[in-house]
Amino acid sequence: MLLEVKNLTKRFGGLTAVSNIDLAVKPGAVHGIIGPNGSGKSTLFNLISGVYKPEPGASIVFDGDDITDWEPHEIARHGVARTFQLLRIFSGMSVLENLLIGHHGLIRYNTASAVIGSRNVWAEERRVREEMMELLAFIGLADYADMPAGELSGGQRRLLALGRAMAMRPKLLLLDEPAASLSPVNVEIVLDTVLALKKRFGLTLIIIEHILKVVMETCETVSVLEHGEKIAEGSPAAIKEDHRVIEAYLGKEMEDSEVRALLRSA
Ligand SMILES: Nc1ncnc2c1ncn2[C@@H]1O[C@H](COP(=O)(O)OP(=O)(O)O)[C@@H](O)[C@H]1O
Ligand SMILES: [Mg+2]
Repeated sequence: MLLEVKNLTKRFGGLTAVSNIDLAVKPGAVHGIIGPNGSGKSTLFNLISGVYKPEPGASIVFDGDDITDWEPHEIARHGVARTFQLLRIFSGMSVLENLLIGHHGLIRYNTASAVIGSRNVWAEERRVREEMMELLAFIGLADYADMPAGELSGGQRRLLALGRAMAMRPKLLLLDEPAASLSPVNVEIVLDTVLALKKRFGLTLIIIEHILKVVMETCETVSVLEHGEKIAEGSPAAIKEDHRVIEAYLGKEMEDSEVRALLRSA
């Protein structure tokens, strides 16, 4: 297994956001995580990437190392990258600079501007720049390298977020709703890019996605969360038949007609 998570629990005060989750992901897999809003999906990513620490008793093993107690930057450097549910693009910086920030694993704007702005760093890092230009070409944004990221369209920003996560050359990429609120055309573009990146760089993917169609078409295995617990896991076809999954979705007020249609037709 590339990632093996055991007994993962996270509480916020009295709320158990993630409850006793086990998860095993093979190298090269595309693993989906679905579940209603508030079911603990993003918290699971925050635990794997080290942003939150789990309750005692958990273990997270990645690529042979127990990373449970590691700091987020150590985990990132070890090969786990992620995108965020809410986009974190530095609008005032160029598209290329946004990738360079990803490469350095820097998250604070001030630190990032200081580093990026320094002449020495530019000189030292010509090679990195070239590598990032290659990545930009791969995600279809090479022509926009010097444009402020804030001027990109919604779909392009999503591609940039993807590129930034790829800039550290991860082995495992965690995608938190990569297609959310995009037009159908852009959903296709982002997904095609994700799959092309996977193929090119031999990535393993875990995808949280609200658009069930995306998960069903892309993932080999799907885990379903509800109230922080894993209530089902299996192939997309098996998941669609699972009555607990159907109840978890149809028991709620649905916003997404696609979800309803898909599950009813299952
Ligand atoms: N930092 C936090 N502090 C307190 N509660 C949180 C925090 N992050 C998430 N939660 C709560 O944990 C639950 C799971 O949230 P989240 O993982 O974001 O769900 P999902 O991504 O599945 O929509 C929700 O009830 C949410 O309000
Ligand atoms: Mg979320």
